Amino acid sequence: MAHRDGYTAFVSSTAGRRIASTIGLPQPVALRRHVPGRPLVDGPLLVGGHGDTPALTALCAGLEGAGAAVVTEVPEEARLGGVVVDLTAAETPADLESLRSTLAPALKRLGRCARVVVVGRDPALAGTAARRAARRALEGITRSVAKELRSGATANLVLVADGSEGAALGTVTFLLSARSAYVDGQVFRGGPGAAGLVPDDVDRPLAGKVAVVTGAARGIGADIARTLGRDGATVVCVDVPASGAQLAAVANEVGGTALQVDVTAEDAGRRIVDHAVGRHGGVDIVVHNAGITRDKLLANTDAERWAGVLEVNLLSILRMNEALLAPDGLRDGGRVVLVSSIAGIAGNRGQSSYAASKAGVIGLVDAYAADEALRSRGITTNAVAPGFIETEMTARIPLATREIGRRLNSLNQGGLPVDVAETIAFFAAPEQAALSGNVVRVCGQSLLGA
Ligand SMILES: NC(=O)c1ccc[n+]([C@@H]2O[C@H](COP(=O)([O-])OP(=O)(O)OC[C@H]3O[C@@H](n4cnc5c(N)ncnc54)[C@H](O)[C@@H]3O)[C@@H](O)[C@H]2O)c1
Repeated sequence: MAHRDGYTAFVSSTAGRRIASTIGLPQPVALRRHVPGRPLVDGPLLVGGHGDTPALTALCAGLEGAGAAVVTEVPEEARLGGVVVDLTAAETPADLESLRSTLAPALKRLGRCARVVVVGRDPALAGTAARRAARRALEGITRSVAKELRSGATANLVLVADGSEGAALGTVTFLLSARSAYVDGQVFRGGPGAAGLVPDDVDRPLAGKVAVVTGAARGIGADIARTLGRDGATVVCVDVPASGAQLAAVANEVGGTALQVDVTAEDAGRRIVDHAVGRHGGVDIVVHNAGITRDKLLANTDAERWAGVLEVNLLSILRMNEALLAPDGLRDGGRVVLVSSIAGIAGNRGQSSYAASKAGVIGLVDAYAADEALRSRGITTNAVAPGFIETEMTARIPLATREIGRRLNSLNQGGLPVDVAETIAFFAAPEQAALSGNVVRVCGQSLLGA
């Protein structure tokens, strides 16, 4: 995928770095991204926390199994690849001192693109006011630390359910890995689930699965298809007939099939299910990615513009899901991943129709995640909310606005489509049965709506 951010390339050179540093310009670093065979983190992984650290007890063997060199003291020489701090035993705000005392010395010793992962519990399930305050405090700390980190390092918070600490292994591993390059300052909330699940083949966690990706002809959708294909899934690539040639190229590249369907067609869902069942025997993963913008101030938005955005980005999903989520659609243990946007969280001038549709998508996540019939079939629903991602959509934004979108985040750069795709592939994995109802921003901790 072409990287249109020449500035990041410039400041990554020795001369560019010197100039940027001298005149105080942002200094984004080239982010560490997934390459097969790459170690989980570059350098030792420091672990620490409060009390008897029940989450670390459940997670450490799995982290070592994933290749991490776990240490309990900040090493004298080496730069840390990451830090995992377990605050699941915190009872009052006074206990947060354990977090400070673990992190403070470690932050000075982090390597490039290092990872900080804080593990806590859901404040809503706290019981006492003191415990709830302590749990909620973790979010403020993690987001602040994420803003303090430099050189491509990130910090995220993982909330684990009581007795299911081990189920967070997949989430913690993802956040430590290069797959989460542009995920920063986020909260992942896990429910009850089995401990320590790791895929049989870590390089092909989606082997044997059939995935449907809408809007797969280009941009983020094409990279979702590539990433799910790389991870072993057979991908049905869906896009409008007008994009047929590009769609066929992507489908060929990933060894999947192309299906020309306008997602707003009345029978789109049925056609997708019939294709997936007929050609591949069923469907396990649905990624609703197709989306459009028709930006205008609300005062100047006519009914046609308004309806077009709502139709493609929201109503089509509801309609398609009637077929996709029916008992003869998605198989048990299925995964639904929706693509929202930070505009749906923060709002954006000139994007009321788009923001309405993308906020509506978050409403869908809440509804499907709470749906008893879907839960009993083991079907999870989550969403990613991309920030500024380098695609044809964002290449059309005027230069000055584009530069602001790119730089106003903790990593000082736009994300790549693959960054969104990696988070979607993570949610799509069979191991993530305990994760449903999450909306995770892939935005480099954009200041917009943070
Ligand atoms: N690029 C970003 O920075 C960004 C940020 C936040 C959210 N998003 C969301 O990510 C998703 C992908 O965005 P992108 O930047 O890759 O956009 P894009 O315009 O490059 O690609 C969108 C794809 O969807 C297809 N599509 C549009 N209408 C369709 C329809 N009716 N039926 C079938 N396919 C249709 C298009 O043909 C195209 O291939 C969208 O939902 C978008 O809202 C993007």
